[in-house]
Formats: sequence, structure tokens, C-alpha cells
Amino acid sequence: MLIDGHGRKVNYLRISVTERCNFRCQYCMPEKPFSWVPRENLLSFEELFVFIKVAIDEGVNKIRITGGEPLLREDLDRFVKMIHDYKPDIDLALTTNGFLLAETASRLKDAGLKRINISIDSLKPEVAAKIAQKDVLDKVLAGVEKSLEVGFGVKVNMVPLKGINEDEILDVMEYAKARGMTIRYIEYMENVHAKAGLKGLSGKEILSKIKERYVIRKVGREGSSPAFNYITDDGYKFGIIDPHKHDFCEDCNRIRLTAEGFLIPCLYFDEAMSIAKAVKEGDIEAAGEVLKEVLRNKPEKNRWSEDEGEESSRAFYETGG
Ligand code: 5AD
Ligand code: SF4
Repeated sequence: MLIDGHGRKVNYLRISVTERCNFRCQYCMPEKPFSWVPRENLLSFEELFVFIKVAIDEGVNKIRITGGEPLLREDLDRFVKMIHDYKPDIDLALTTNGFLLAETASRLKDAGLKRINISIDSLKPEVAAKIAQKDVLDKVLAGVEKSLEVGFGVKVNMVPLKGINEDEILDVMEYAKARGMTIRYIEYMENVHAKAGLKGLSGKEILSKIKERYVIRKVGREGSSPAFNYITDDGYKFGIIDPHKHDFCEDCNRIRLTAEGFLIPCLYFDEAMSIAKAVKEGDIEAAGEVLKEVLRNKPEKNRWSEDEGEESSRAFYETGG
């Protein structure tokens, strides 16, 4: 079992397989980064897998593949299958913008992927295009339908932004609800890469929009999930992720691995250590040592609320959100 320096059990690994993305979401990567990580610095699936086996052997039983946009990595289903075959009962999930899902969902399902989170910030083509800076809606919605059709558990993520999509909070909920999908509203997290002047809605503001239609009741957080859940009077459960409070840090169970092999103890924390050398040399022991060192350094809480208006310098597309 993996225990961090604050006594928390860590069983959840998020892997960003690429920082590249085919969208340019205003809150994440509004411009193409000045330079991408050179392709030769990306770890291969085999190299990543060396570390994954160590992590699984040490007690990781939940893995989420993220990006950037993970489906830009060719043959992602092959990577999914490697993990699944090593530990078939692992809770294996993917976070994607959905754009390439219609054509890949079926192969991902066959490879052993269990769950998918898809970002839907708007159901209006022009608003979706404004946020992602590309005409994306039709393909994303086709990806959702295909994922449901092949039997995935699907969750929807929405980042409500002032003056952009705040009027669609209920519409996106109804869309998710009609398809048996849970929706989670994520408060916009300030970061230096995002478009200047962008303002998110607070959890409280999001709730007040929902209360215009529903009477809601608190359910609370489940396990180590950062989402605080609520239920509507007609029995629909949804969540709000509010990183500005750090009530979820105290039972944080996760660490993150980037495509270049940096192991990151906390999303909002700049310290990271590399496993690249260890996995390239196939040195399982060294990889295990880095893992334990990072766990010793895992901070007690994120830094969003230390100073008013603090921004993260680490890009979401690099760490996988
Ligand atoms: N604030 C909040 N959520 C973000 N995401 C990406 N960048 C941000 C940000 N700055 C979310 C996306 C996606 C998930 C991977 O992370 O909306 O749902
Ligand atoms: Fe790409 Fe996701 Fe970032 Fe949007 S939020 S630019 S889809 S990585």
C-alpha cells in the first residue's frame, strides 16, 4: 500500500499521455504553446508501462488516462489493453474532449477501458466553438452517443464561465440527465496559460442557477473524489468540483504522471521528479524509489487559496487536470 507523508493512502494514478490537444479551450490552452515537448522526450507506452506495473504492484487500483487530448496518441487502445491485461479489475478510465471518440470508442471498450469523462461546456455550436476555438460540437456529441452505445459509463464535465456559457448550466444538465450520465461542474481554475480576463462561476453561483429549476439536497463527497455531490428533488445526482476550498485535499489519494515522465504529487504544486531515466533503463527499483520520494513530498493541500488571486503556472494540458 502507498502512504504519503501526511498519512494518506494513495491508490489513484492519473497519466497524461500527451500535452498536445486538437482544441484550444480558452481556460486551458488558448494558444498553441510556444514549444511542445519534443516528441523524442515523450515516453513510449512500453516505458510508461514499466512505471505503471510498479505503481500497481504497490497498490494503485485506479488509473485515469488524460492529456492534453489522450486520443491524439496513436493506438491508445493498445496502451489501455496493456494496463487492463496486467490487472483486469483495475478501475481504468479516460478523460477526453470527445472529438475523436466516435471512431475510437468501440476499440477502447474492447481493450478494457471502463469509464469515460467528456467535456461539454456548451450545446450551442457557436458557443462550443468559441470556447474550444474550433467547430467541435457535432463530433463531440457523436462521440458521446457512441460511447453510450458501446456501454461505457460516461460522465460530463462542464466549466461554467461568466458571460459565455453560464446560461447553459441547466441545459447541459438536462442533456446529461436524459442519457443517464452524471454531470460535474468544475470551477474555473486560474492559471497563467488561460485567456486573460476569463471569469468562472463559483460553486455557489452554479448552485443558484440549478435552484431556479430544482430543489436540491446535499449528498456530500464520496470517498476521495474532489466532487461535492447534490441530488435534485427528482433524484438526479450531480457534482461540483471546487478547488478553491481545500476540503478534499485531506483525503487526496492521487498522483500524476506526465508524458515526459514527471511524477507530480499535487496538481497545484511545482515540485516533480522524473521517472524517465529509470523506466528507459527498465530499472524497476529506481522507479519505485522515485515514487516513494514523491509521496513523501506530497503537500498537505493545494495552493489555490493561499493568496487571493493566485494562479497556477503549471499547464493543465501538461498535468491532465
Ligand atoms: N479550470 C477548470 N477546469 C479545467 N479543465 C481544464 N482546464 C481547466 C481550468 N483552468 C478541465 C476541462 C476538462 C478537464 C480535463 O479539466 O474542462 O473537463
Ligand atoms: Fe484540450 Fe482539454 Fe485543454 Fe480543452 S481543456 S484545450 S480539450 S486539454
